[in-house]
Amino acid sequence: MSFTVAIDGPAAAGKGTISRAVAAHFGFAHLDTGLLYRAVGARMLRGEDPVGAAEGLTQEDLADPDALRGPDVAQAASKVAVIPEVRAALVDYQRAFARRAGGAVLDGRDIGTVICPEAEAKLFVTASAEVRAARRHSELTERGIAADYADVLSDVRERDARDANRAVAPLLPAEDAAIVDTSDLSIEAAVARAVAEIRARRG
Ligand code: DC
Repeated sequence: MSFTVAIDGPAAAGKGTISRAVAAHFGFAHLDTGLLYRAVGARMLRGEDPVGAAEGLTQEDLADPDALRGPDVAQAASKVAVIPEVRAALVDYQRAFARRAGGAVLDGRDIGTVICPEAEAKLFVTASAEVRAARRHSELTERGIAADYADVLSDVRERDARDANRAVAPLLPAEDAAIVDTSDLSIEAAVARAVAEIRARRG
């Protein structure tokens, strides 16, 4: 039997951490859909046409997630994500993943609204731009990537604006999503909120 958890929200709000924890808690598979757009973005940075790259995406493109985490690839991902043909090329893979037996957690920007509007549980994980920039900044620093807080903040705001204002599948909470604002929550508290919401919808 399938059970789909859709987790959407802006960059660095805690979606990834919450999604992994929720998947581990319920024993569900997890797909970070941002990685798909990052892989397409990385191929564009190598000179490929993004639509062709999205249509020809393979497991190999996703094999090294760490190589896709840098800010250049993030910006490229957000740029290719505005192209309707890129989004369309990635739909079937995400829907098949969502319906796998045993349950699935998908995190992204449009999972509850476009990819899986029938998802059994939907969360919209958010936090203020400043809190998200501070988290991204310390994450980069920990990984040894030099970054300036002001640059990270303007990067977060730029990506927010692009993700929220695009014509196709903009970043938006689904009407039936539970909003989890993690600005003032510890990781443990945020995960506990998410687990409680999902449990309530599992009946
Ligand atoms: O979650 P992330 O930061 O890895 O996502 C990178 C970019 O990919 C993000 O700026 C917007 C895009 N994206 C999207 O448009 N739809 C998704 N479901 C996931 C990511």
